[in-house]
Amino acid sequence: MIMQVQFLKSTNDYNNCPVPIYPEFAFIGRSNVGKSSLINMLANRKNLAHTSSRPGKTQTINHYLFTYIQKEVIKKNISWYVADLPGYGYAQVSQEKKKQLEKLIAGYILTRKNLLNLFVLIDSRLEPQSLDLGFLNFLGENNIPFTLIFTKIDKISKTKLENNIKMFEQKLLQSWEKMPPYLVTSSKEHKGREELITYITKNIELYWKN
Ligand code: GTP
Ligand code: MG
Repeated sequence: MIMQVQFLKSTNDYNNCPVPIYPEFAFIGRSNVGKSSLINMLANRKNLAHTSSRPGKTQTINHYLFTYIQKEVIKKNISWYVADLPGYGYAQVSQEKKKQLEKLIAGYILTRKNLLNLFVLIDSRLEPQSLDLGFLNFLGENNIPFTLIFTKIDKISKTKLENNIKMFEQKLLQSWEKMPPYLVTSSKEHKGREELITYITKNIELYWKN
């Protein structure tokens, strides 16, 4: 199968996203956690989404159209939207800007009709952060389906990774019934790409079946 990827639009108005004709997957998480890099890995393109070593790079909602071209007799191509969102918790901006970004993120999450799943990225090197846990609670309260992605796994050992995930789970289970599904990735070393694609396409199949 051939995967085609196309940048669609960038907007700072959540009411101005592309017409919701395809299932959508959005990437969110703390500023600098690796959202834009992960989208580049997914697309197999170096500079599709803009990345930076300085936090606060993505400040708008950026939409991409992904399509699997089925070469066989099968009639249907599979298309989905990917949304790259601004990060949360970035301190080095004015209060006003911070408020505006929070409104943009929450407005998008709460109103986007075709949002099938939100990938919440967590820096795998860190112990559970209250900022992330608070954000997950917000999703839970609003019934937003999400999947965790532990990023930058090239930066730590396997043991440390397992420990940090375990710690995250323990912390989460204080207020959640069970651990949500999760994936682990390294955009630097191209790890976890196949798993992520499989996860996405499986969700799309279920979506069209229902
Ligand atoms: P904002 O748009 O500012 O919210 O950040 P973001 O979450 O989109 O992060 P971005 O993809 O811009 O990456 C931030 C920094 O982390 C960049 O310097 C990336 O090169 C680096 N980075 C991202 N993913 C990985 C990874 O898997 N491994 C390593 N080692 N570095 C990574
Ligand atoms: Mg970004």
